[in-house]
Amino acid sequence: MNVLGIETSCDETAAAVVGDDFRIRSNVIASQADLHRRFGGVVPELASRSHIERLLPVIDEALHEASSGLEDIGAIAVTRGPGLVGSLTVGVAAAKALAYTRGLPLVGVNHLEGHIYGNRLDRAAWPLPAVVLIVSGAHTDLVLMREEGRYAVLGRTRDDAAGEAFDKVARVMGLGYPGGPAMDRLAEGGDPEQVPLPLPFPDGGYDFSFSGLKTAALRVWRSAADGERFARDFAASFRHAVTSVLVSKLFRAVDAHRPRSVMLAGGVAANTLLRVRVEAEASRRALPMLIPPPVLCTDNAAMIAAAGLARLARGEEDGLDLAVAADLPLS
Ligand code: KG4
Ligand code: ZN
Repeated sequence: MNVLGIETSCDETAAAVVGDDFRIRSNVIASQADLHRRFGGVVPELASRSHIERLLPVIDEALHEASSGLEDIGAIAVTRGPGLVGSLTVGVAAAKALAYTRGLPLVGVNHLEGHIYGNRLDRAAWPLPAVVLIVSGAHTDLVLMREEGRYAVLGRTRDDAAGEAFDKVARVMGLGYPGGPAMDRLAEGGDPEQVPLPLPFPDGGYDFSFSGLKTAALRVWRSAADGERFARDFAASFRHAVTSVLVSKLFRAVDAHRPRSVMLAGGVAANTLLRVRVEAEASRRALPMLIPPPVLCTDNAAMIAAAGLARLARGEEDGLDLAVAADLPLS
């Protein structure tokens, strides 16, 4: 059975077809970054209007790429939250219309669970329980996944998400929107030792906080910014500070809970240094480590289809009264 996944929680309009072997048949993502760039962030009203314009062509393309028609689809999975309420509504309305007219099962998916299931795609099995770090533009959640569908949130950010901190500092540096990937590239050529920045919130158990680092970094940038070399060292130092605290709390949780694997998920999991450092710590412990390829770290619908498949396999299904939930929690 193929599942059609639909994702419209923020500023990517996405549709994908995934088989019940968790293999990706197609994965189409229309980014709205160009639309929001001049505002330096996502404008919710523009995002939902753009989803309305783009979603049906994106679904058509996903079916076409998978060499399928709707007759080859066995179920519809759609993100129901968390996210922007107007954007979510567009995806859920389209999913309901398709499910109703084709008589297909409908399954609502938590976007964060979707990010975790980015690790399930194109894989025969995964070792659970797992300790998972979800790092995106809106979330920084440290999660113990006991089994499929059972999560305990160990810690989360008390203010900015990690991606948000990258984006805000990158914006002041003139790196555009979203700035995380540009900051990552710039940091590759820099020396983190040259520009000292504070470690963000090393205490506080498994919770995170990036606002202090952000303020300190912006003060340093505004007082000392000086040419290309400085920009590279500054980016390297900022990236080092953020990844250090992520890696240290992730593996503190790993050592406390002794899971069978460790996973990264969410847009910031595409970060080069974070991937390398998590890989090194996992291999030191001989622990299986799962990180999606970069294109499956940022928002996409294949991960939503995968999480939907798992829900369907557990006998979970939603009705046409499925509601969006902007603050939907993971557990
Ligand atoms: O998961 P995602 O696509 O959207 C949300 O659900 O929020 O994550 C987007 C975030 C943005 O903040 C973006 O700057 C960040 O992921 N990001 C990165 C990198 N690639 C994407 N941050 C740091 N380094 C990267 N390579
Ligand atoms: Zn996301």
